Amino acid sequence: MEFSVKHSRIGKEDSPCVVVGVYENKQMSPAAGQLDKLSRGHLQNLLKQGDIKGKTGETLLLHNVPWTQCQRVLLVGCGKHRPLDDRGFRKILQETAHALNRHHIKEADCCLLELAVEGRDLGWKARQAAITVAAALYRFDRLKSRKNRQPAGLRRVHFEIGEESDAKTVRRALREGRAVAQGMALARDLANLPGNICTPSYLADEARRLAEGDARYRLKILDEKQMSRLGMGALLAVARGSRQPPRFIILEYRGGQPQDAPYVLVGKGITFDSGGISIKPAAAMDEMKYDMSGAASVLGTLAAVSQLRLPLNVTGIIPTCENLPDGDAVKPGDIVTSLSGQTIEILNTDAEGRLILCDALTYCERFEPRAVIDIATLTGACVIALGKHYSGLLGNDGELAEQLVQAGKTSGDPPWRLPLDEEYQEQLKSNFADMANVGGREAGTITAACFLSRFADKYPWAHLDIAGTAWLGGQQKGATGRPVPLLVQYLLDRVAEA
Ligand code: BES
Ligand code: MN
Ligand code: ZN
Repeated sequence: MEFSVKHSRIGKEDSPCVVVGVYENKQMSPAAGQLDKLSRGHLQNLLKQGDIKGKTGETLLLHNVPWTQCQRVLLVGCGKHRPLDDRGFRKILQETAHALNRHHIKEADCCLLELAVEGRDLGWKARQAAITVAAALYRFDRLKSRKNRQPAGLRRVHFEIGEESDAKTVRRALREGRAVAQGMALARDLANLPGNICTPSYLADEARRLAEGDARYRLKILDEKQMSRLGMGALLAVARGSRQPPRFIILEYRGGQPQDAPYVLVGKGITFDSGGISIKPAAAMDEMKYDMSGAASVLGTLAAVSQLRLPLNVTGIIPTCENLPDGDAVKPGDIVTSLSGQTIEILNTDAEGRLILCDALTYCERFEPRAVIDIATLTGACVIALGKHYSGLLGNDGELAEQLVQAGKTSGDPPWRLPLDEEYQEQLKSNFADMANVGGREAGTITAACFLSRFADKYPWAHLDIAGTAWLGGQQKGATGRPVPLLVQYLLDRVAEA
């Protein structure tokens, strides 16, 4: 998908399709008004006839609008005539993308950046527009033998600006939007790939591919032997049941000053979670191929960061393996020693995410990080608590959590903070080791974070539980690319703040 900025005389220049907004009660956006005037009231007539009501996201494609140079005009409903909220704006852009694509319109001039959105500036609108349009057109068909039988769809969108002086702002915002969209697409591709293709080694190869594309990256990949020498007993316990060798990926992006402390992103990379010996029920178990969505979002975010050449140091850490049952697999009751030296009684082998993450969190200490954010499809309980709308957010640092909440509002990819009070720690008591890896039925998302917190006490830390937000079930089954928008926004905010 290509995006560009354009400043033209609407309706007076050739265009394959011009996109303009119309409101309920027959009101028109400025660009629609211009077309209406040129066409001597054609649009107003259609509104009067009720061909389009103007409901948010409703569309109507027009051909041969009289007295204009446009081949087509797409009218898009914008609801009641008042400033839009973020959600309304996104809905309008999403429906626009779908409509253009459905009509096989390859190229369009979009006049929707002029719509007023409460509390948002032009840069925000352009960035959101690019992200929304690109995300709406994402397809995953690389594993279908007969690809793309449909005729080509939307390829290029030119965003019309009212004044030439806005070009710089919009161009920059589109660049940011494009980078986020590409990061999301990478994360979605990786998560959508099945476990037999997207293995720990595949994720390592993907990191290698990224590292080869930008000299600012440094890459280190640890194999089982190296992990064992370091003492990553928790991670290795999970990997035991699988024939796929585990990997520990360290992908550093060095865009800041050498002495700048890095932001570290840790992504859970379970490429398939069967539950292990504490095996999961068969229904919907295929969805556990998504259990590396945290890892995918780390790679997607780093891809965007590199594309934007952000002046920051950002380190991606990906512990990755499969969780399978086997004669040699870790068993309930087994006790292992983590990299931190703390011992863990594994009461349920299906609580494996925290086991691979805890060793990664200890490993992070060596970077003396500015902040560490781990991202994981960690608990089913989080899906029950927050559904698919908010990611769970827990951590040991109020400022970091607040920054993530803010970035969530800006990006439309929000987390919701849950408490992490000392009281909950009691649930992790073990009679035989320093702690158990599960804390019972109550507050499952919180006790999982409590477990992680015991390995993250040396730096500001936040945990994002994306079990509900990283993919959709049912008809629209597939990865969402979240929380790449949130993470990139968080990093953009840090650049702006410096
Ligand atoms: N990957 C799952 C979490 C998950 C479950 C994500 C359902 C999305 C949908 C994780 O490894 C897991 O199995 N967690 C257990 C923890 C429990 C054993 C304490 C869970 O949530 O049931
Ligand atoms: Mn599990
Ligand atoms: Zn899991």
